[in-house]
Amino acid sequence: MSDTLRAGIIGAGFIGTVHAHAVRAAGSTVQRVVASTPQRTAAAASRLGAQTGADSVRELIEADDVDVVHVCTPNSLHLDLASRAIEAGKPVICEKPLAVRLADAGLLADRAAAAGVVASVPFVYRFYPGVRAIRSRVAAGEGGPLHLMHGSYLQDWQVAGAPAGWRGEHGEGGEFRAFADIGVHWCDLVEFVSGQRIAQLSARTTGSGAQTTMQFTTDRGVSGSVVVSQVAAGHKNGLILALDGFDASYRFDQENPETVRISNAAETRVLHRGSPGLSPRQSILPPGHPQGYQDCFNAFVADTYAAIGGDTPDGLPTFADGLRAARLTDAVVTSSQSSTWVEVPS
Ligand SMILES: NC(=O)c1ccc[n+]([C@@H]2O[C@H](COP(=O)([O-])OP(=O)(O)OC[C@H]3O[C@@H](n4cnc5c(N)ncnc54)[C@H](O)[C@@H]3O)[C@@H](O)[C@H]2O)c1
Repeated sequence: MSDTLRAGIIGAGFIGTVHAHAVRAAGSTVQRVVASTPQRTAAAASRLGAQTGADSVRELIEADDVDVVHVCTPNSLHLDLASRAIEAGKPVICEKPLAVRLADAGLLADRAAAAGVVASVPFVYRFYPGVRAIRSRVAAGEGGPLHLMHGSYLQDWQVAGAPAGWRGEHGEGGEFRAFADIGVHWCDLVEFVSGQRIAQLSARTTGSGAQTTMQFTTDRGVSGSVVVSQVAAGHKNGLILALDGFDASYRFDQENPETVRISNAAETRVLHRGSPGLSPRQSILPPGHPQGYQDCFNAFVADTYAAIGGDTPDGLPTFADGLRAARLTDAVVTSSQSSTWVEVPS
């Protein structure tokens, strides 16, 4: 492996492009790219600034000049591609959902652990400075014990039956697509920030999988609920997480990520990035210069690469977290189909 990692990116749509920016921001090289056809590969290599394309995924994964593999394809391909990278002994970043079936996500987590390779999943909302700040305050018990967790993840790109592309294909996107697509981000975040696990849940899914409402209790008996929709007109990427303690409440809004709201019975404070206690390591730009989603991605890739180099960065989402998300999705499917509360193994 060279000092500077050389990345191979499989899939060059929306998220493959975000990965390519993040690779370069980490001081590494986009070495090879492969897309679904030779023509798309050639165009993608040029657009993403790759050194070269690859004739096949196999060639990319096995190439001596590729140190780390990024799997950025539709969901149904994740199992095969990430497995091949692990077999080749290479670190791998695999997009969420880790797999379309729970058993397959389990296989991937087991294979990565057995091979001892760094294997991460881009639950990148963890990398907002505001998210880290709330997490630290909750861990320190500042707002008292939590008694309620709530929020939403709302998008509208499916409104009025807009084409869902591969995400709408049962085989390619997986079942219960809005929950598997974006609900898992919210669940990862609530568990990451609160330090608690969703232990039982009751879900109802409507609109052919385009929206899910879920209520839950955690392993410490705290109640919560979330609304997930991709047909919520006017909502673009409305991920809101709220945690209420007995002495203070915390609120993070992904569409306004430079601030977090902390309130108690006497006052509501809006803390800006750069305020004391809200300037963690994930702050890249000077306060007042807004940071966003791409910056989170850059921090996530930088931390994955640091882990490949032997560090243990705090809060890096791994294949174990991808498996956790698959477990929650499976429980949502079971609950929605049976109209019952379902236990979620921790
Ligand atoms: N972590 C996040 O925040 C986040 C955000 C968006 C998407 N995603 C995930 O990223 C993945 C891709 O989503 P997207 O929005 O980029 O989709 P997209 O449709 O924009 O891109 C998919 C790409 O995969 C390529 N592809 C398809 N089959 C291929 C094959 N056999 N070999 C190589 N390339 C192939 C297509 O040509 C296309 O370029 C999904 O799993 C999705 O859930 C994650």
